[in-house]
Amino acid sequence: MKRRRLLGLGAIGLLGGWALRPGDHGQPYTPYFARLNQLLRQQSPGIPLLIVDLGRLDQNAELLARRLGSQLPLRLVAKSLGSIGMLDYLANKLGTQRFMVFHQPQLNQLAHSFPQSDLLLGKPLPAAAALRFYQQLPAGSAFVPARQLTWLVDSPARLGEYAELARALGQPLQIALEIDIGMARGGFATPAQLGEALAWLRANPAPLHVRGLMGYDGHLGHTPFWVGQAGAFARSTASYRAFIVTATEFRELWPRQALLNGGGSLTYALHAAGATPLNEVAVGSALLKPSDFDVELLAGHRPALWIASPVLKALAGQWPFLDGTQALLQAWNPNRQQAYYLYGGQWPADPVAPAGLSYDALYGRSANQERLLGSGSSGLGVDDWVFLRPQRAEGLIESFAELYLLRNERLVGRWAPHSRV
Ligand SMILES: Cc1ncc(COP(=O)(O)O)c(C=O)c1O
Repeated sequence: MKRRRLLGLGAIGLLGGWALRPGDHGQPYTPYFARLNQLLRQQSPGIPLLIVDLGRLDQNAELLARRLGSQLPLRLVAKSLGSIGMLDYLANKLGTQRFMVFHQPQLNQLAHSFPQSDLLLGKPLPAAAALRFYQQLPAGSAFVPARQLTWLVDSPARLGEYAELARALGQPLQIALEIDIGMARGGFATPAQLGEALAWLRANPAPLHVRGLMGYDGHLGHTPFWVGQAGAFARSTASYRAFIVTATEFRELWPRQALLNGGGSLTYALHAAGATPLNEVAVGSALLKPSDFDVELLAGHRPALWIASPVLKALAGQWPFLDGTQALLQAWNPNRQQAYYLYGGQWPADPVAPAGLSYDALYGRSANQERLLGSGSSGLGVDDWVFLRPQRAEGLIESFAELYLLRNERLVGRWAPHSRV
């Protein structure tokens, strides 16, 4: 009797489980990706590539420009836009020659490509890397670092090192002071500490020109709900203002038109909408909108960057060592019916087209031949292209040979990514 009841319960459980069986998520390409697939089947070099949708990039740039208006100048974040071609395109479209840079080789590249630019470091570099910049700057370069480059100083020790460097180089260096406005990412932690650094500089004159402050607040984009974004923004801007008050007490060091940099893709809309202590914002990723930037404040921006990779093999989704359970797994989940091997992989990205593809957690990831699972409903076959949406652009663009430019459903050109080293 007991056993029969158990069997009955088991059968009900199985039926119930079957009712929870995943639906078939596989779908053919949408018209946008079907066209892109056709283009790449006809015109690509057959290796994984990055595609920038220029129409969408334009829309994102126009939205950014509209929101910033003429009140809040823009500095383009070079690490998130990955290519001189893209920076040049956006600098022209958005009317800026201000760039934020994070890597010494790229600093030299930008000084060469944009001889009229204003370059601000987004993180403090070791003095040895700064020295390398001057060593690699060609003699007679049109770019004049003493007027056009601002190093970032985050501590009394680095202030001392840059003072030494300026003396050793025999030329003045411009510096901005990094301040911690509550995001715990380093920099001068309190206005009092900033004041001590400025007092030291006053007492120990060095060929360093203070240009202003940099206080990044991008983490506000992920404020926990129990803290509340509006309150956190009010506190971080109040903190920024307190640093300004202290800095302005050092009249002989503090410039009349100080540079007050901050913000990022995740917070530019907050600065643009309300009272801000900043007189420029640094923005990069919002222009391409990788998926880490799917936040409410960027709802109007559209994804504009895709990784495309050709399918090398399309197989019935089999696993080694699982002969017995395989049929059951596939019958249970139609999204595991097919396996597709891509050219390359292990990118920080998620497959988006055709719909219904996913990584195979059982099999693992591969940078050489990434395995994806899906149902047969997508109609995907060998030599078709799979499109993935990057989670972030920084560090990714440089890992590709070329950026292909898409406009009005045509490939209209290419940009070279920044060099990696
Ligand atoms: C100092 C600084 N400013 C601005 C940004 C904003 O960059 P993005 O707009 O690409 O998020 C970052 C990003 O890490 C940063 O470190």
